[in-house]
Amino acid sequence: MTLEEARKKLSAAGQEHVLDHYDELTENEKEMLLSQIEDTDLSVLQYAKNPNDINPRGVFEPLAAMELDEIDSRKKEFHDAGVQAIKDGKTAAVLLAGGMGTRLGSDNPKGMFNIGLTKDVFIFQRIIENLLDVVKETGTWIRLFVMTSEKNNDATVAFFKEKNFFGYKEDKVVFFRQDMAPACDRSGKLYMEERYRISTSPNGNAGWYSSMIKAGLDRILKDEGIEWINIFAVDNVLQRICDPCFVGATVLSKVSVGAKVVRKADPDEKVGVICLEDGRPSIVEYYDLSDEMKEAKNKKGDPAYNFGVILNYLFHVPELDEVVKGSLPLHVVEKKIPYMDEAGNHIKPDKPNGYKFEQLVLDMIHELSTCLPYEVIREKEFAPIKNPTGVDSVESARELCKLNGIEL
Ligand code: UTP
Repeated sequence: MTLEEARKKLSAAGQEHVLDHYDELTENEKEMLLSQIEDTDLSVLQYAKNPNDINPRGVFEPLAAMELDEIDSRKKEFHDAGVQAIKDGKTAAVLLAGGMGTRLGSDNPKGMFNIGLTKDVFIFQRIIENLLDVVKETGTWIRLFVMTSEKNNDATVAFFKEKNFFGYKEDKVVFFRQDMAPACDRSGKLYMEERYRISTSPNGNAGWYSSMIKAGLDRILKDEGIEWINIFAVDNVLQRICDPCFVGATVLSKVSVGAKVVRKADPDEKVGVICLEDGRPSIVEYYDLSDEMKEAKNKKGDPAYNFGVILNYLFHVPELDEVVKGSLPLHVVEKKIPYMDEAGNHIKPDKPNGYKFEQLVLDMIHELSTCLPYEVIREKEFAPIKNPTGVDSVESARELCKLNGIEL
């Protein structure tokens, strides 16, 4: 892109300041900036003006989950079907590790965080150990894709190498980077990271499938006959991945996606709840749950909106190919965005100072026609680490690890 073209693009979006220091840049920096301007989708910035007003919701109805008692009564059937699908190489896993983990406040990728007390226990290690349980049980190495971002890719790859992939088979692990989106202040003005670089943030966890395709990884899916992909968050240290019962139940139910869910701890718990929206599977955020929905009961007399998602989904690949053809809603998220000020100082804010733009996995669910919400026991499978202390923290995750006999 030429300087003139860049000026035109920026001026149409009211972002002329991006070129304020252009004349001071080296030739290499000038080239980098022009190419970033060319690649950056500035249309998202318009949403910073009305951040809460961009995704109107439809009509919600309950969606029944497959609960523990039913799973228990069909355990063998599900388990056998799952083991078979894994042995046949039909399942892969995708670790979503492109997030910035700003709440945890570490500069390293979240997975490098050490939750050990008497020895090293890294988050990545916990995840690989859990996946290795299934590898051992089925005698099958499961293909593992790891999504990183431009910000944390090199550190993540280097860490896996340094730790010998925590005993996983190196050639079964593939890293790929997700796309980035620009970040701006509350008035919609782009932040600069450097004089020659616009501040960017990973574009949300829904970017995983399109980024895989962009990286050419659909070739691996086709060549290896992978039909199901279990995506999961990096920050749940009790995460069960490709667990045979879940795989079997989802495959036998012939749905487009299986979603692991946990019973809500209380009606006001801040989790996204699985439901139907305008007749399609969806997730209603806690702040969109009306009092009427909180009080609604199902046939058993239990709360009708009672199951929260834990970011562990098993997607059927053919339907994903359809989802990527459409576009997903955009979410404007308040975050702490590091930037360079007018005087050239690098600022690391300690509270949110602007917006980033994300597409979320939960919106992919709404693009599909069928979903199996599959109940798991919270204390056994859900120990998220979002914050340094308090709720969903290192402390709470450690407690849950201990409860499950995991030495720290
Ligand atoms: P979170 O929503 O907790 O976001 O991610 P985060 O960026 O990790 O953390 P905060 O909000 O800044 O503290 C849930 C999961 O989705 C992944 C994360 O790595 C985590 O596994 N994720 C999130 C991505 O892979 N890419 C993204 O752009 C965002």
